[in-house]
Amino acid sequence: MESVRTLTGFALQASPPQGGLKAEACPNYRLFENWDGKNCPMMLLAPMEVLADKQFRKAVATVGGMDEMVMEFIRIPDQGHPRSLANRYKSDELGSMTISPQVMGSHDQRMWVATRELVKRGAYRVDLNCGCPASRVTKKGSGASLLKTPSILGGVVRSMIGSGPDKFPNISVKMRSGFEDTQLFLENVYSAIDGGARAITVHPRTSYQKYSGRADWNLIREARKISTVPIIGNGDITSVQRAAEIVESTGCDAIMIGRGAVRNPWLFHEIRGHFTGQTIAPPSIKDEWTFWSTYRQAGREFGGTARGNTGRLKMILGYYFDKCTWMKEAKARLLRSRHVDDESFLYEIIDVLEQHRKHCSECSFE
Ligand SMILES: Cc1cc2nc3c(=O)[nH]c(=O)nc-3n(C[C@H](O)[C@H](O)[C@H](O)COP(=O)(O)O)c2cc1C
Repeated sequence: MESVRTLTGFALQASPPQGGLKAEACPNYRLFENWDGKNCPMMLLAPMEVLADKQFRKAVATVGGMDEMVMEFIRIPDQGHPRSLANRYKSDELGSMTISPQVMGSHDQRMWVATRELVKRGAYRVDLNCGCPASRVTKKGSGASLLKTPSILGGVVRSMIGSGPDKFPNISVKMRSGFEDTQLFLENVYSAIDGGARAITVHPRTSYQKYSGRADWNLIREARKISTVPIIGNGDITSVQRAAEIVESTGCDAIMIGRGAVRNPWLFHEIRGHFTGQTIAPPSIKDEWTFWSTYRQAGREFGGTARGNTGRLKMILGYYFDKCTWMKEAKARLLRSRHVDDESFLYEIIDVLEQHRKHCSECSFE
């Protein structure tokens, strides 16, 4: 079988065996086990607290196209019960769609316990958050502040893996490029690998940058050059073209998409179409209806009130209606709308989406 890339220790297969790339084809990490390959990089939905919670995950799962979703962080504080915190993770939340949990903390023993609890609940890998920039988190030594001391970061990974019969090797790391600056970036990558991380997602912005400026993809390329484990490129992948660019310019092994998938839940399909040479039809109004109505319905199922759910619909449309001038103008009107009833607001959104199809000159519809 032809290997498209043989880096230090693993290879992605150009034509994986039927039924998906098997663990033995990619022996040092199961991340790629469910990946159907076919020349398209593996694609993951990024963890996004509040924005991509279980309500959004349920809606975006109706669209599909991604290979895996990563759940927003579960904070493991120095006090509290990792066992009950782990109950937030449901590995079968979306049936067969793989959802990986992410933990945020720095207390070695608690991170060990939390990892075991998540594995008991069906996690096949556990991701360590090294990116949260919130000061309430970083002042406690967690999230992005782990990037200040590479040896501590590596130590947390090592603790999560553990040793002896209880050893659990599938720990991955999601990191920013640094805390204040990027000086320790490569040291952090080395330390994560040295600690035993089996994949690293790089969101190349510092903690100080939060979400401003452009993600510096050069750093993903730097990480790829030195890494012995898969590098997942993340940050500002908002279109097919940007997806192709990040893969081409950095050599990353997989891509992770966050806000771009809220803006366009069909982006994963479009990207796959590009890499596999298939023509992907744009979503029909029925597809859009399914996405939006599932989102609304899930909000109610998970205990949301009509008013609260209307606010949640507005949060998603803030991204979704960002595709063209026509939609941006419609967005401003929708955000001003005074609906307290989420059902009538849903109908208004769909009505505007129908109008968009009829009247937009920038977007092309059949
Ligand atoms: C609202 C929001 C919440 C986020 N929550 C998390 C989180 O829980 N864990 C994490 O590792 N990253 C989190 N991130 C960062 C994203 O996973 C991702 O790294 C970042 O948005 C850049 O990717 P994008 O440009 O594709 O959105 C969050 C980002 C946003 C915008």
